[in-house]
Amino acid sequence: MTATAHTPRVFSGIKPSGDVTLGNYLGAIKRWSEMQGPTFETIYCVVDLHAITVWQEPSELANATREVTAAMLASGIDPEKSILFNQSQVHAHAELAWIFNCVARVGWMNRMTQFKDKAGKNAEQVSLGLYAYPALMAADVLLYHATHVPVGEDQKQHVELMRDIATKFNNDFKAPDFFPTPEPIIEGPSTRVMNLRDGTKKMSKSGDSDMERINMTDDADTISKKFKKARTDPEPLPETLEGLKDRPEARNLVDIYAGLSSTTPETVIAEYAGAGWGRFKPALADLAVAKLSPISSEMARLMNDPAEIDRILARGAERAEEIAQPILEKTYELVGMLRTR
Ligand code: TYM
Repeated sequence: MTATAHTPRVFSGIKPSGDVTLGNYLGAIKRWSEMQGPTFETIYCVVDLHAITVWQEPSELANATREVTAAMLASGIDPEKSILFNQSQVHAHAELAWIFNCVARVGWMNRMTQFKDKAGKNAEQVSLGLYAYPALMAADVLLYHATHVPVGEDQKQHVELMRDIATKFNNDFKAPDFFPTPEPIIEGPSTRVMNLRDGTKKMSKSGDSDMERINMTDDADTISKKFKKARTDPEPLPETLEGLKDRPEARNLVDIYAGLSSTTPETVIAEYAGAGWGRFKPALADLAVAKLSPISSEMARLMNDPAEIDRILARGAERAEEIAQPILEKTYELVGMLRTR
């Protein structure tokens, strides 16, 4: 069997840590919603085991998990079409991650740029989980024999590593093509949404200032204010995309506009060539409010009924487990573990 002989299946995940940002929405959740349909089976996971690789307040974690779930549901992820669940409810993730900890090499982990960025000068003090994080991520995807992984640009290296883990496992245990080598899907204008105050840094949930990111829960006034205050250069928008080279903040706002309106940066430039920020920023703010307000109101409505969110996650976890458990059992068998029941 070749890797392509595996059922086309999408898996992706998001951490319940901090607010869901416009980067998460454009780089991931919006695209996940668009991938539901006849081509792929789609499995989306709120990865709470990943979240605790850095400290999460226990009293807040459950609610953060519900909030990310609400953001996904409000953005069009349909629990009838997709399997939607939180990671810790399907034990097989942690179990397969352990096996992959024993397959992956320390040298591979040492090359992970995200670990280096997150650990910084503090590498001796961060959790062992943060270091082993990419092996858990590989387990998430390979547990379902998923073939495609839609993510933002920042996750590319982790998806490449899971391909290495799959290949090494298949070789070590003489099981050709048991695990597929999943393809990253990093497409569209918004695979790297940047910080609104510094166009060379990624927009992230954990940045210092709230003004540098748009949160999915921001109200219309806050969204408008943040875009109006976003850093830019004094030049108007150029005639062609080439003219945005070396203008990271300007490029970012054009990309965000393209992502929100589901078009291309070229189309945005064609429409706004020569426009100053006094025209472009209010247009972008209006577009963002028009697209995000319905999502944030739906999130608020869903968060008023946590029991319904919990039911959706419970059902999703049951469906996920039906796929995961036989693959985990087969993995144990290939590794040679004694199974007596
Ligand atoms: P996380 O929670 O940091 O982000 C979730 C998704 O959002 C994307 N993203 C962005 N895309 C564009 N611009 C941005 N500024 C931006 N910020 C975040 C991320 O690329 C990601 O796709 N390790 C993963 C979660 C994970 C996972 C997995 C993903 C765990 N297991 C298995 C895929 C498959 C993470 O921390 O994502």
